[in-house]
Amino acid sequence: MQIPDIIIAIDGYSSTGKSSFAKKIATELSLLYLDSGALYRSVTFYAISNGIIAPSGEIDRQTLCKSLHDLDIHFEDRGNGSETYIGDRCVEKEIRSLAVSDRVSPIAAIQEVREYVDEKLREFGKKKRVVMDGRDIGTTVFPDAEIKIFMTADPMIRAQRRLKELESKGEKNTIDEVLRNIKERDFIDSHREVSPLVKADDAVVLDNSNMSIDQQLDWVKKLIKDRFNID
Ligand code: DC
Repeated sequence: MQIPDIIIAIDGYSSTGKSSFAKKIATELSLLYLDSGALYRSVTFYAISNGIIAPSGEIDRQTLCKSLHDLDIHFEDRGNGSETYIGDRCVEKEIRSLAVSDRVSPIAAIQEVREYVDEKLREFGKKKRVVMDGRDIGTTVFPDAEIKIFMTADPMIRAQRRLKELESKGEKNTIDEVLRNIKERDFIDSHREVSPLVKADDAVVLDNSNMSIDQQLDWVKKLIKDRFNID
C-alpha cells in the first residue's frame, strides 16, 4: 500500500503493545520506526548506573540535568535491527528490565529530560515518513501529525502480555509485580505536570484488549485509506 509522506503518532498506556504495533506498521508501510520510550528508559538506565537515582528512588536532579548535555543516546542498526545505544554501548536489553521500568516515570516527569528527548525526536521526525510511539507524540512532540492513535487495553491483559515478554528475556517476575508497575506508571504518566498522557482531541482510540496484531494492522490500514482516499 502506497501512502503519502506522513507522521503517525501512537500514544497510550504502558504495555498496550504500542511498540509492536508501530514496528509492524513501519515494516508494512515502509516508514521509519522510532521508540520514544527507549530514550526515557536510556536516561533512566544512565541515572541508575551512575548513582544519580539513589536506591530509595530519590533523584539528584541537578546532576542529571547537567549530564544531559553530553549524553549521547541514539539508535543504530548493527545487524539486529534498530537498537538503542548510549555512546558505543548497546543498552537495548538493560533498558527493558523491570528495574528501569520501576524508575522511568519519575524521570520522564522532569521538564529538562522531556526537553532533551523532544529535541531528539523532532530531529528524527524532520524527514516525515515516521511512525513514533510514546505518551505525548500527538499532543506535544508532533501536534500536526497526520494520523494520531491512542491505545488502551485492560490492565490485566497488559500485565499478562508484559510478563510473557519479560519471561522471554529471562526475567522472572510475578503477575502482581508487573500489574502494580503498570498501574503505577499509568497514574504517574497521566497525572504529571509536564506533557501528561492524554488523548489528543483528534486521535482515534484503539482498544486492543481482544485484537491480534494482524487485526490491528487491518484497522490502521483502513483508517489511512479512508483518511487519504486511497483505493
Ligand atoms: O513506552 P515505554 O513503556 O517504553 O515508556 C517508558 C516510560 O517513558 C513510560 O512510563 C512513560 C515515559 N514516556 C513518556 O513520558 N513520554 C513518551 N513519549 C514516551 C515514554
